[in-house]
Amino acid sequence: MNIAVVYQSRGGNTKKVAEAIARALHTAAWSVEEVKDLDCDVLILGSAVYAAMLDKKTKRFIDSLDGTSARRVFLFGTSAGGRKPIGMMKRALDGKGIPVDERTLYIPGSFAFMNKGRPNEEDLAKAADWAKSIIKE
Ligand SMILES: Cc1cc2nc3c(=O)[nH]c(=O)nc-3n(C[C@H](O)[C@H](O)[C@H](O)COP(=O)(O)O)c2cc1C
Repeated sequence: MNIAVVYQSRGGNTKKVAEAIARALHTAAWSVEEVKDLDCDVLILGSAVYAAMLDKKTKRFIDSLDGTSARRVFLFGTSAGGRKPIGMMKRALDGKGIPVDERTLYIPGSFAFMNKGRPNEEDLAKAADWAKSIIKE
């Protein structure tokens, strides 16, 4: 199975989660800017949220996808508070007619005085378990 783990990260939180997911699946994690003409069985896509918006690079990456880019799509996200990045990516993908699996992963990310030290080791273990559980079937 050809699995692509793709992330957007300005500060490194989402990258850490993406790398934990990729390690668990014995593959590599790629930033949204590195991936062109995606063609895979499973896309695992993660991003963060900034001032209640997705980064433009995430939007550009989603815009580059079509119904043939990935057979299945799973989403994960980090933020200071809540699953916003996951909801926003899902809406963008819905808008393109690309279905998203319901099994998503949210991990709190440190920001200013919030979520100090997150993602931590426990978060990364949770991300690895999630990755193995979605790929298991
Ligand atoms: C400039 C900026 C704006 C942010 N705005 C929000 C926000 O509106 N809502 C939220 O929940 N988190 C917000 N955050 C927190 C980030 O989503 C969180 O720190 C995330 O883990 C960052 O991921 P990254 O390190 O991979 O870039 C913001 C962070 C930054 C740096």
